[in-house]
Amino acid sequence: GQQQSGVAEPEEIDEGAVLVAQVEDLKTTKRLRTTVNDREIVIFHHLGKYHALDLRCYHAGGPLHLGEIEDIDGRTCVICPWHKYKIVLENGEGLYQGVDPRDPKKSKKWFSKGVKQRTHKVSVKNGGVYVTLSDPSNMCDSDFYANEKFNDQPCPD
Ligand code: FES
Repeated sequence: GQQQSGVAEPEEIDEGAVLVAQVEDLKTTKRLRTTVNDREIVIFHHLGKYHALDLRCYHAGGPLHLGEIEDIDGRTCVICPWHKYKIVLENGEGLYQGVDPRDPKKSKKWFSKGVKQRTHKVSVKNGGVYVTLSDPSNMCDSDFYANEKFNDQPCPD
């Protein structure tokens, strides 16, 4: 039989939460491109956890639902297919690799640019996956691409 993940279940659902998928479906597809209150988002199901982010990459609007998922320096990231930016699934931080000028060995390390991609809350209840959009008053770089102007532009499936 299938193993029961039990992650984040059961949970209370926020008032503004929107049902986006069934747990069983998302466990199979591992990712879903959808729209919540006119905002395009992507939901990943990875290693038993759910993550919702703005669909279009904060850099230039790339389609994150087509990105590979990789472990970068111990953090689970989606790699944007357009220019390979690394975005932490958990909180939308942008990571980049560089050399600390103070490091005498000049070895490359991963650094954070801070939160760049907006993430949204995912809840699970009675076999349904729900998304609550995050508070829009805290500006985030990915907001630029998260409006109807870009909704109409082709984004490869
Ligand atoms: Fe995502 Fe450039 S659009 S890396």
